[in-house]
Amino acid sequence: MTHHTTAALEFLQPTSERPYTYMYPPPDGRSWQNAAYESVAVAIRDARADGGLSIDREGYELREAPTAVRDFLDKDQVVRLYYPEVAELALAVSGASLAFVFDHLVRKRTPGSPQAFGRVEGQRPGAAGRVHCDFTPASAHRRLLQELGDKAAGVRRYAIVNLWRSIRHPVFDAPLAVCDARSVSSDDLVASDIFYPERTGEIYQAMHNPAQSWAYFHAMTREEVLIFKQYDTEMAGHTPHAAFEHPETPTGAPLRESIEIRCLLIYQGDAK
Ligand code: OGA
Ligand code: FE
Repeated sequence: MTHHTTAALEFLQPTSERPYTYMYPPPDGRSWQNAAYESVAVAIRDARADGGLSIDREGYELREAPTAVRDFLDKDQVVRLYYPEVAELALAVSGASLAFVFDHLVRKRTPGSPQAFGRVEGQRPGAAGRVHCDFTPASAHRRLLQELGDKAAGVRRYAIVNLWRSIRHPVFDAPLAVCDARSVSSDDLVASDIFYPERTGEIYQAMHNPAQSWAYFHAMTREEVLIFKQYDTEMAGHTPHAAFEHPETPTGAPLRESIEIRCLLIYQGDAK
């Protein structure tokens, strides 16, 4: 049985300024953000029944991928066990020849709706309810240089993927919606700054466009991984995504806890 639904996602409204968001109390009386957002109800299909999905076409696919990790809150275990598992999975899914896992984030929702980019001081990040892609061409290239240094010059095709899984219960609360990369126009995407205390990140935020085609995977379990593209020099580059409130979330469903991990992929014939 499929569980297609309609739910609100939070999109950037057209703006003439470059949008920014502070992830910590802004200095000098600056505002937390300078752009306006709108909540738009969109059809979100349950892609469980969709065959043959590909990170190189739709930009996302679901894999059965049990893990040896017992405790995802144990950073040591995640780095020692999960990073290699994820690298292997990313290589198998993509056909790339090298994988560099560089970042992971454990999210735990607190009561209340998914909010902005989902951080509350002193708490684990919650869900991210604002539509975005984690990388732009500029920040993807910066990451390539960070990982490969001098060898980056020899790379032709590279990509960045996220691998996302529940770390506890099947996900009924605040599932993750992904947008079919083919339905995204470059005009929908706006490069934006995210200010952290120690650095500034550049991501894309997305404006709504009726051409966009949205999907999710109903009740993802701890044995499953959603792989979705953040950037690719060649194809299916950007897969905007956001958490949403599913109208059919059973009352009392446990709040979502998930891990996402980012992985740089280098394709055949490139840097050794
Ligand atoms: C991601 C992401 C949001 C969420 O995995 O890149 O933005 O709520 N996730 O899990
Ligand atoms: Fe993201």
